Amino acid sequence: MGRLRVRLASRNENKLRELERLLGDWQLGLLDAENYPPETGATYYENALSKARHGAKLVDEGAWVLGEDSGLEVDGLGGGPGVRSARFGGGEPVERLLAELRDVEDEGRRARYVCELVAISPRGELRGTGVLEGRIADEPRGDEGFGYDPIFIPAGEERTVAELGNEWKAENSHRARAARDLLRAMSRRGWSGV
Ligand code: IMP
Repeated sequence: MGRLRVRLASRNENKLRELERLLGDWQLGLLDAENYPPETGATYYENALSKARHGAKLVDEGAWVLGEDSGLEVDGLGGGPGVRSARFGGGEPVERLLAELRDVEDEGRRARYVCELVAISPRGELRGTGVLEGRIADEPRGDEGFGYDPIFIPAGEERTVAELGNEWKAENSHRARAARDLLRAMSRRGWSGV
C-alpha cells in the first residue's frame, strides 16, 4: 500500500517539520495556497477547521487535508493571547509579552501552548488536541523553534523550547501531542493503515 498523501493547510515550514516525525507514515506536504481565511474563530478548533476546509477545496478529490491552529495561553494575561497569538504584539510578540509580564511572578507566568489539528478525509473528519504546560522565562534564550519558543520553559525543564531544540519539539511539543491524539482517533475508528 502506498503512503497516505496528506496536505497541511499552512505555509509554516516549522509546523510541517514538527509534524513529520510523528506522522512519518504519511506523505506530508504543505499546501501553499493563497487566501487562507482570516483566523477569526473563537476557538483553535474553528480556525483549524476553516483552514482544513479551505485546503479541501483545492486538493484532488480523495486527498486528505490537515488544518492546524495553535497558540500560547498565559495565566497572568487571563489566558491570552490564546487564539490571537499570531496577531499579538504587532511584529514583536516576544518583547510585548515580556513587557506585559514585567512585574508578574510565578503563578502569573504559568502558561501553556495549545494545538488543535483537524483532518478532513473522504472517510470523514478527525480531530487531535495537544497541550504543553510550562512558564514564561524572564528573558529570551536559544535560537531553534519559532515564535514564543525562546521564552517558553516546559514544565519539568529549565531550558526554553528554543534551547531544547527542534528534535525535542518534534517529540514533545503541543503539535507532536496533537498528532499523537489524531493517530489515536484514527485507530479508534479502525482507520489505521488507510
Ligand atoms: P497560527 O496557528 O499559525 O495561527 O499561529 C499560532 C501562533 O501561536 C504563532 O504565530 C506563534 O505566535 C504561536 N505559536 C504556536 N505554536 C508555537 C510554537 O510551537 N512555538 C512558538 N510559538 C507558537
